[in-house]
Amino acid sequence: MGYVNDVNVLQFKQNGDQRGHLVVVEGNKDIPFSIARIFYIYGSDREVVRGCHANRRSEFVLINVSGTSKVKVMDGKAEKVIVLDKPHMGVYLPEMVWKEMYDFSEDSVLLCIASEVYDPSEYIRDYAEYLKEIGMKDE
Ligand code: TYD
Repeated sequence: MGYVNDVNVLQFKQNGDQRGHLVVVEGNKDIPFSIARIFYIYGSDREVVRGCHANRRSEFVLINVSGTSKVKVMDGKAEKVIVLDKPHMGVYLPEMVWKEMYDFSEDSVLLCIASEVYDPSEYIRDYAEYLKEIGMKDE
């Protein structure tokens, strides 16, 4: 199982010249898994909290390709908040960490790269159930 300690901020190379910037993310090279799925989240207001789940199998890299947001990760013991505020940075999330995304700027486009195709049955959307599965008690 993954832990908050395994959550890493990734810095991607900016290929920039007078025409602008280009960032490349290749599976198993710039990020530590093969890419099976991408999706992106936009149009969420500041007060919206998204995510609020853990994944039994999927690992993710999240990148705010436009705007900013925050990601809170928890593993029943530790927690960490990562501010995504540059299109050339990302955060790696291992499987089985609880995650919440919030504080979206109006122009936020949060790109999510996943190691697995979508399977709703590998999502744990109830925090008490999550704590049970990782062998911790809800206080
Ligand atoms: P949801 O998991 O609630 O989004 P988030 O946790 O990132 O805020 O997903 C929103 C909707 O989109 C929900 O109806 C499920 C659907 N969905 C897919 O069909 N495929 C996917 O890969 C994802 C991430 C979501």
